[in-house]
Amino acid sequence: MIPGAYYAKQTPMNLGFETLRWIGGCDGMLELIDQRLLPQRMEYLRCENPQTLFEAIVTLAVRGAPAIGVAAAYGICLGLRQLPGNAPLLQALEQMEKTANYLAASRPTAVNLFWALERMKKTAAQFAADNPAAQAGILRQILLNEARVIENEDKEMCFAIGRNGQSFIPDGKAILTHCNAGALATAGIGTALAPMYLAHQQGKKFTVYVDETRPLLQGARLTAWELTRAGISAVLICDNMAAGLMKADKIAAVFAGADRIAANGDTANKIGTLSLSILCRCFSVPFYVAAPSSTFDLSIPDGSHIPIEQRKGDEVRGFAGQTTSPENIAVYNPAFDVTDAGDITAIITERGIIPSPGSDNIRRCL
Ligand code: MRU
Repeated sequence: MIPGAYYAKQTPMNLGFETLRWIGGCDGMLELIDQRLLPQRMEYLRCENPQTLFEAIVTLAVRGAPAIGVAAAYGICLGLRQLPGNAPLLQALEQMEKTANYLAASRPTAVNLFWALERMKKTAAQFAADNPAAQAGILRQILLNEARVIENEDKEMCFAIGRNGQSFIPDGKAILTHCNAGALATAGIGTALAPMYLAHQQGKKFTVYVDETRPLLQGARLTAWELTRAGISAVLICDNMAAGLMKADKIAAVFAGADRIAANGDTANKIGTLSLSILCRCFSVPFYVAAPSSTFDLSIPDGSHIPIEQRKGDEVRGFAGQTTSPENIAVYNPAFDVTDAGDITAIITERGIIPSPGSDNIRRCL
C-alpha cells in the first residue's frame, strides 16, 4: 500500500449542487436530486418516508454505491420520523429493524447500502445497551447524528480519493470513464471523477472520453453533465467505441468506480466495466478503480460471490418510454459485471493506493 492523505478535514471543493441533503431535525426529510430527470431538469425529490426512498433507489432517482449508502442511513431516520418522542425504546428499535430490512431489499449489489444500514443498527444497539431506560426521541437524535456523520465521512473520503488519485491523471492526454462515479454517485465530489476534479483545479489539461453506458445512460446523462458543468473537456462516446480509441493509442488510462470489492480485489461495477478492463489489458492501458473503504466487502473471498442485480427487460428494449426493439424480445439485463483483480492496475482509496490489488495488500490497507 502506498499511504496517501487520509481524510482531509474539509472538502474545499464546491461543485454547486448537493446530490442529497437532510432538511430539518428529527422530523425532517431527505431531499435527493432526481437523477431520472437529468440533464434536462434539475429537481429535488422529497422523501418523507422509507417507501418513497425505496422507490427512489429502485428507479435510480438516487444511485451510485456511496450515495445509496448515505441515503439509506437517512432512510432509517425517515422510518422513525412519525414515532412519538416518548415511545418506548424497544418500539423504536423494532421500527428501525423493520426499516433496515425493507431498504436492504431495494438493490442487491452495492455493498455500501448494507454497510450503512449495519452501521446505523450498531449505533442504535450500542445506545440501547448503554441507556436501557431511554425513550425513542433520544434514539432518533442519535441516529440522525450518525447519518450526518456518515454523509460527512463520505464527503471527506471522496476528497481524499481525489487527492490520492490526482497524480494518475496525465497532463495533456485523454482518459476514459464508464457510468457515473462522480458527485451524483456520492455525497461529495465522487470517486472515479474526484481525481479529475482536483487535477483540473490544479490546471492540468486533459480530456475525458465518457462512455454513454447503456442501458440507462448514466455516462451520457450524468457524467457528461457533471464534467461539462465543471469546465472539464469531455467527449461522449458509445460504449462500443472504446476499443477503437485504445487501438489508436488515444486513451492514457481508464478510471472506474465500484459497487462492491471482494477480499481478493475482484470488483463489481456498472455493466460494461469488465469489457473495458479486458481492453485495457489488450492495449496495455492502466485501469484504475476508485472507491472508499465502505465499498470493500471482506466477508466474500472473490467476485463470484457478489450478487448481481438483474433489471427489467424494458430498459434494454428501448429508452425513455420509446421501444426500439420487438415488444416481446427476450432480454438479458444485469446491472453490473465483475472485473478480475488481475486486470486492475491499482485501487485508489481514501487511505492510499493499492497497487496490483490482492488479498494481502487490501487487508493491509483497510
Ligand atoms: O446502477 P448505478 O447507476 O447505481 O451504478 C453505479 C455504478 O456502477 C458506479 O460506478 C458505482 O456505484 C460507483 S459510484 C461512486
